[in-house]
Amino acid sequence: MKICVLPGDGIGPEIMEQALRVLEALRGDGFNFEVETALIGGSAVDATGTPYPEATSKAAKAADAILLGAVGGPKWDTLPREQRPERGLLAIRKELNLFANLRPAILYPELANASTLKPEVVAGLDILIVRELTGDIYFGQPRGVREENGERVGFNTMVYSESEIRRIGKVAFEAARKRGKKLCSVDKMNVLEATQLWRDVMIEISADYPDVELSHMLVDNAAMQLVRAPKQFDVMVTGNMFGDILSDEASMLTGSIGMLPSASLDANNKGLYEPSHGSAPDIAGKGLANPLATILSAAMMLRYTFNLEAQALRIENAVKKVLAAGYRTGDIYEAGTRRVGTKEMGDAVIAAL
Ligand code: IPM
Ligand code: MG
Repeated sequence: MKICVLPGDGIGPEIMEQALRVLEALRGDGFNFEVETALIGGSAVDATGTPYPEATSKAAKAADAILLGAVGGPKWDTLPREQRPERGLLAIRKELNLFANLRPAILYPELANASTLKPEVVAGLDILIVRELTGDIYFGQPRGVREENGERVGFNTMVYSESEIRRIGKVAFEAARKRGKKLCSVDKMNVLEATQLWRDVMIEISADYPDVELSHMLVDNAAMQLVRAPKQFDVMVTGNMFGDILSDEASMLTGSIGMLPSASLDANNKGLYEPSHGSAPDIAGKGLANPLATILSAAMMLRYTFNLEAQALRIENAVKKVLAAGYRTGDIYEAGTRRVGTKEMGDAVIAAL
């Protein structure tokens, strides 16, 4: 099994180190792997002048799965758009056709106090957001800034083809079928034609999934419902931009974005796995970052790309044990628990394995 490792920027390298140690600890247990490390994001810009170098593209294509830390940082914020670290991420998603982004938001009981919402509103929360990742206004043409009547006009295009909607819809229905059998499709059909088509296609697909209850919600209402009564949701499916926004919102219901993994899959379950959080430049290199989202991303990789459900569960259960035993990095720390750094958290997970 070939894993392409892209540590990236900021805290990326240090959290990746812990995820790799966890995978190493599982080696042999039905799981043998090779690692090829490559550059992406700001560190790639520094070394090669581009955020997604040819060598990285080659390594990513040759691998079965890609494990990514995080990209970006203030150092690269003023570069031209083409050289911004985020471009590296958008390029790899598009090039590898990673259209299905799975973003779970799970509240671990031990962390109920970390949420800014009342414990009774979020206790037991377990939502999966399925975000389309290679279409929509993120990639639509035309786009740009042009001169019109003596002033600058900025424009982007929200566009979805029927086939793009259908393939993400299927992923979402399949996911709902394996969980609580409830799927909420989020759109803005009262204003945007592209999302009217989205809703129509979702309804068409639902004929093949009579066991899954499909509902629809306008995105503004969905944003409100997520903080009002988030437990009404099981699986949510939405487009690239709405999914970007709603998944950040959902992650905060759990109190710490430092806990949440994600998977971006193609049609054959080749995937890119990364924590949902960013590169946290303010704490980079200090050994303070929470490695659990990256470790849980490695678990998702074992589940979705390598079909190793038992090993994925071993990692997830180890994380639960470590939380139950009171280990906390700074982002999830509260009085009475044991504050640890990045490496100690990795050690604790390995011991729990
Ligand atoms: C995400 C991020 C990216 C996105 C950025 C870094 C390009 O916010 O993965 O949610 O907008 O998709
Ligand atoms: Mg985002």
